[in-house]
Amino acid sequence: MKKIAVFTSGGDAPGMNACVRAVVRAALYNGLEVVGIRRGYRGMAEADFIPMESHSVSDIIGKGGTILKSARFDEFRQKEWRQKAYDNCVKEGIDGLVAIGGNGTFTGAKLLMEDFGIPTIGCPGTIDNDLYGTDYTIGFDTAVNTALDAIDKIRDTAASHDRVFFVEVMGRDAGFIAMQSGIGGGAEDILVPEIPDSMDNVIESLKKGGDKEKPSHIIVVAEGEGIGNAHFIAQKAKEAMPNLDIRVSNLGHVQRGGSPSAIDRILASRMGIAAVEGLIDGKSNVMAGIIDDKVAFTSFDDAINKKKDLDVELNKMVEILNS
Ligand code: F6P
Repeated sequence: MKKIAVFTSGGDAPGMNACVRAVVRAALYNGLEVVGIRRGYRGMAEADFIPMESHSVSDIIGKGGTILKSARFDEFRQKEWRQKAYDNCVKEGIDGLVAIGGNGTFTGAKLLMEDFGIPTIGCPGTIDNDLYGTDYTIGFDTAVNTALDAIDKIRDTAASHDRVFFVEVMGRDAGFIAMQSGIGGGAEDILVPEIPDSMDNVIESLKKGGDKEKPSHIIVVAEGEGIGNAHFIAQKAKEAMPNLDIRVSNLGHVQRGGSPSAIDRILASRMGIAAVEGLIDGKSNVMAGIIDDKVAFTSFDDAINKKKDLDVELNKMVEILNS
């Protein structure tokens, strides 16, 4: 292994830059050459490579987004695009790849590996925290804190007006951001896809809040919630309880931005170094995660296909904390 490439792909996440920095510095520390690929698989297929030196990653550990840029590139499902990408890697003399991203990124890496055998290690970078094989993904902690800050602010205005708020947070099909920001923000209810909910339960929760004369009532809704999105649920709640003053706030992409938290910077740095060391040790087709505070490698297959469980017991806490 003489030269490696690093890229970020899929939805960006705070801490991706810290991970790029760790990969570059760990590669240089181990005597490897390193290049960056801009815009993930698109850049690989279009030969958008940039040489990375130590100074290329100076002052980026605290920056949100990704200096390498990111893209969702569905064309990579087609072999002809993977062939182009592989040919470009060969021309560039690349012996191994570090892919920073989520499920889609690792699916692409796995296909590339199966087609051409180019050694690849993944670092889990997504705010959703939905990857099996790591306790936390890069960006999740920052996203939770961003959502929490918003919920705190919504609480101020909700209490001033005696209002009910449905706050929708990201997470794709997973409820990790909703559960943690909801508990941290003292939400009266949290709706996540992992736990079956019904409008009856939502109305019940609103009635309980009314009985206790709570000045505000916040229900955090994960974007993948089974009943529907926050607007739909709010509309149904208004039909059932027309006297309530209800508002909806969808936090959206604000959750993807911002300076990464200390936890994300350190997690990203550990994972980036682990990925480079893994490549040097001959590992491939695996994700470098952290389980119980120790580096752990999990096959792309498992990281993509096995479901990471949300601790549904946390929901019990919500009930207790609202009694
Ligand atoms: O995977 C991260 C994520 O932010 C999800 O939470 C969300 O469903 C999705 O990406 C949004 O993607 P886009 O920015 O492409 O609309």
